[in-house]
Amino acid sequence: MPSNILIHLHAKELNSLTGQTLAVFSKVGTNKDKLASIEHKEVSRELQSVIEEGVVSGSANETVSFREARFLGFRNVITVGLGAGEKMNHEVVRQAGAALLKESKSIKSKEVFVDFDGLVSSKKNLATYARAFVEGLILASYQFDELKTAAKKKEEPIQFHLISKSAKEAAIQTAFKEAVVLAECTNFAKRLGDMPGNLMSPTILARETTQAARGTGLKVTAWDKKRIEKEKMGGLLGVAQGSAQEPRFIVMEYKGAPLSKKPVAFVGKGLTFDSGGISIKPGAKMEEMKYDMMGGAAVIATMLAIAKLKLKINAVGYVPATENMPGSRATKPGDVHTSRSGKKFEINNTDAEGRLILSDALTYASEQKPQFIVDAATLTGAMVVALGNIHTGYFTRNGGLKAKIEKAADETGELVWNMPLVDHHVKDIKGAFADLSNISYSGGAGSATAAAFLEQFVDSEIPWAHFDIAGTGWACGNRLNYCTPKGGTGVMVRTFVELAKQYE
Ligand code: BES
Ligand code: ZN
Ligand code: ZN
Repeated sequence: MPSNILIHLHAKELNSLTGQTLAVFSKVGTNKDKLASIEHKEVSRELQSVIEEGVVSGSANETVSFREARFLGFRNVITVGLGAGEKMNHEVVRQAGAALLKESKSIKSKEVFVDFDGLVSSKKNLATYARAFVEGLILASYQFDELKTAAKKKEEPIQFHLISKSAKEAAIQTAFKEAVVLAECTNFAKRLGDMPGNLMSPTILARETTQAARGTGLKVTAWDKKRIEKEKMGGLLGVAQGSAQEPRFIVMEYKGAPLSKKPVAFVGKGLTFDSGGISIKPGAKMEEMKYDMMGGAAVIATMLAIAKLKLKINAVGYVPATENMPGSRATKPGDVHTSRSGKKFEINNTDAEGRLILSDALTYASEQKPQFIVDAATLTGAMVVALGNIHTGYFTRNGGLKAKIEKAADETGELVWNMPLVDHHVKDIKGAFADLSNISYSGGAGSATAAAFLEQFVDSEIPWAHFDIAGTGWACGNRLNYCTPKGGTGVMVRTFVELAKQYE
């Protein structure tokens, strides 16, 4: 899964180099005239007039190119804005990386030397910012064009050279390597989502996972229908029975610590296409339901990253994968199925299928007695209404896990929001004819009642959190310049890995 750009880190002096393009950073001015500053003395002197004329303002994500500037040893110069100094953080830097990639592409530069020491005035943030910048470059380099026959011509990769006096330091080198793994795995998740339903069926998803795991130390087993039946996963089977495609239950295991150490567990919704089933969805935007496996994709990518980074933990990942289709054998509204836990649920709306397939996976995960269970799912349209494509809403009743999640998300810049989950929500999903109903009897709080349903299948002794990524799983390009406008985002991969790291 290597990206189509190459990034190198060099401990050289910029002034001694020659090349195609030089990239320098600019900031919004703090002086009384509010003039921007370019964080490279000689370039700043050379470009004084464009600063004074406001051509370079230093605002975040601003890029200004000076082609054929022929300055120092370089043909072109690009300035990359970082905004106001006091607002500077790693997310600004991540977006600066993405902005530079886009500008380099637009001026068709194939070789860019970055004045990396212009990014930080003190060494304190160097590793954090190095990681964010590299992530931004690689995340933004993702494009999905493998189904466009005309775009087949393989482009030569753009080479980025990050020039820093500290390039030989262990902290910056580790940050660099981590960023490459995290961003490449996130891009892998994006691709799984961008693939249409017919080319990313449960069987194909399982095969792609197995292939990607080769050589990483991650063990992948894909249970077929027979095995799923044997494991009594009635939720997964009930959803799958309306489709001609066989379901799969993807099991991923990583051992990076002694066996006595309990694993951490990730569970992801792998609905490769959600038509709604018999309670069929309206036609508009139904094609977007190929993204109903982004939770599963996030878990697959998280497990791959954990293995590639060789974290000193044990980890398991489970992805129940199926289509939700209205075939002649499909579950009908009112039907009752029995989940692995033995609990019976009545299916009053076949479009509320994610919680059914997750019920089996959460029970199975609980049986492994992990340190925590975290799940990701494009579970409810109500989450899109509540938080749009800005925050991922998460639910947990465990204060310790909540604190760790907040810390992890702070470190990756992924926006999360803690949502309420209380006993009222649980009452709303009691069944009239069976133990549970898959839809709530009262209006509103649809994301919380879905979370309450999931909670019924988690061992109450195990810290658990549920992430509803319905709003943030795809189409975030209007917010984040390292995401494509319509495509999958790979949201939560970086935060989940960061969370797992806290258990090393
Ligand atoms: N996959 C959908 C949720 C979804 C909808 C994600 C829109 C992203 C955008 C899920 O399976 C679903 O259809 N949920 C229903 C539940 C309802 C019937 C209780 C929903 O949210 O409408
Ligand atoms: Zn649905
Ligand atoms: Zn769904």
